[in-house]
Amino acid sequence: MDAIKTIVEQLDLKPHPEGGYFKETYRSTGCIKQDSLDTEYKGQRNYSTCIYFLLTSENFSALHRIKQDEIWHFYQGSPIRLHMISNDGIHSEHLIGNNLSKGEAPQFVVPGGYWFAAEVLGKDTYALVGCTVSPGFSFEDFELKSRQELMELFPHLENTITKLTHH
Ligand code: GUN
Repeated sequence: MDAIKTIVEQLDLKPHPEGGYFKETYRSTGCIKQDSLDTEYKGQRNYSTCIYFLLTSENFSALHRIKQDEIWHFYQGSPIRLHMISNDGIHSEHLIGNNLSKGEAPQFVVPGGYWFAAEVLGKDTYALVGCTVSPGFSFEDFELKSRQELMELFPHLENTITKLTHH
């Protein structure tokens, strides 16, 4: 789709390992020392980071989790269906978009430690969002699991996990 290629070029986005395209737009110069962070963090982290994230209809964002709460901001395109799985295995779905009368929210917060995945609602289209985290993002805090591993954790969510994992 030409519009997607144009946005990727205009915003200088790169492929993201979880699916879609991204660019980090902000990383605070200030750092939080490890001894001020929760024990699950290994090393220091920036105060906060922010990315552009472009998801396309062909390329959903697979189930993954990070330690931080992640704040999603909707900018343009088709709405997103965001799936969350809490640690006790409760699956929920949330619409991120700007059509308030359809129950879409322009901002959404994914709690730290929850598994989550996102898909664009429309066919042959895209969604451009922002994702802000604090403490700042590190791939050390990022976890992807295989379909089989997630099914062992949440056997009652077989269909959801099959749809939202690549392998
Ligand atoms: N930086 C690189 N990948 C990510 C991500 O998945 N989320 C956030 N918030 N920042 C990132």
